[in-house]
Amino acid sequence: MPLTAPSAAPLLAVNDLSISFGSHESADPSPPKAVDAISFAIAPGQTLGLVGESGSGKSATSLAILRLLSPNARTTGSILFDGHELLTLSESAMRRHRGRDIAMIFQEPMTALNPVMPVGAQIAEAVEAHHPELSRSAVKSRVLEAMHQVALPDPERRVRDYPHQFSGGQRQRILIAMAIVNQPRLLIADEPTTALDVTVQAQILALLRDLRLTHNLAMLFISHDLAVVSQACDQPGDRIAVMQHGRIIEEAATRDLFLTPGHPYTRQLLASAPTMHTDRSRPLASVSSRTASSE
Ligand SMILES: Nc1ncnc2c1ncn2[C@@H]1O[C@H](COP(=O)(O)OP(=O)(O)O)[C@@H](O)[C@H]1O
Ligand SMILES: [Mg+2]
Repeated sequence: MPLTAPSAAPLLAVNDLSISFGSHESADPSPPKAVDAISFAIAPGQTLGLVGESGSGKSATSLAILRLLSPNARTTGSILFDGHELLTLSESAMRRHRGRDIAMIFQEPMTALNPVMPVGAQIAEAVEAHHPELSRSAVKSRVLEAMHQVALPDPERRVRDYPHQFSGGQRQRILIAMAIVNQPRLLIADEPTTALDVTVQAQILALLRDLRLTHNLAMLFISHDLAVVSQACDQPGDRIAVMQHGRIIEEAATRDLFLTPGHPYTRQLLASAPTMHTDRSRPLASVSSRTASSE
């Protein structure tokens, strides 16, 4: 696909990545692969959408990039961040990347936040983890700036409030503030809107779009929902990769994927997801591909 490949050098280049999970007890020499030889790249300012049904290996892929997979995971292949191999990096070097150059937003805003700590203190912890040299007031001004950037109402007053005092959408904004407060270059968003209702989901997607355009962020946007992914990957240069049973079965520029889907599974996903590109005069199909899925 030389005509649609990103023009800038990739910030993240995943090559031939495979992940399998063995159990601690049985030393199975060849457990089934949760992720099977996938490759993709993301340039600064570009968003790659990763879409696929539950269990297809999306979260395992994102956790592998952050090196946060459970100890029973076996990972092979290559993950280059800014030209440096992450898979062989020492744990201390990896900790310096995590939450600073590479940040992540997870699905569940309530479980990802500490319920007994004011939200401002939680965002401050994210700053202090990477910038111990900053004074208290410098940390505080970064916290407030991040809260403003994610359009949380009245940050100066609410910085001392606890997570339960915010709505679900606001809690997701707090997590996004934590993710961007150290000005990362790569943002991984794994089902960031799945727990939210449709209106709030649209607001969060708009916020992520604003943030990534302002900061020239590279973004890996993960969802089981093709309609959501297509909204997140709506800028020129954005691409969508379709995952099924651990493999990327198709990857294309967003527009091309909708206009000329190459794989039957992609066509099924398209037929079952109403999007701006869908012919709304026709009934929606349902996806029925859960043959070898583990759930
Ligand atoms: N810690 C783990 N131990 C064993 N199997 C796992 C673990 N994490 C994920 N898996 C398996 O890996 C596959 C991919 O999971 P996951 O990446 O979470 O899928 P998705 O995010 O696309 O729903 C699934 O079959 C899942 O059961
Ligand atoms: Mg997942």
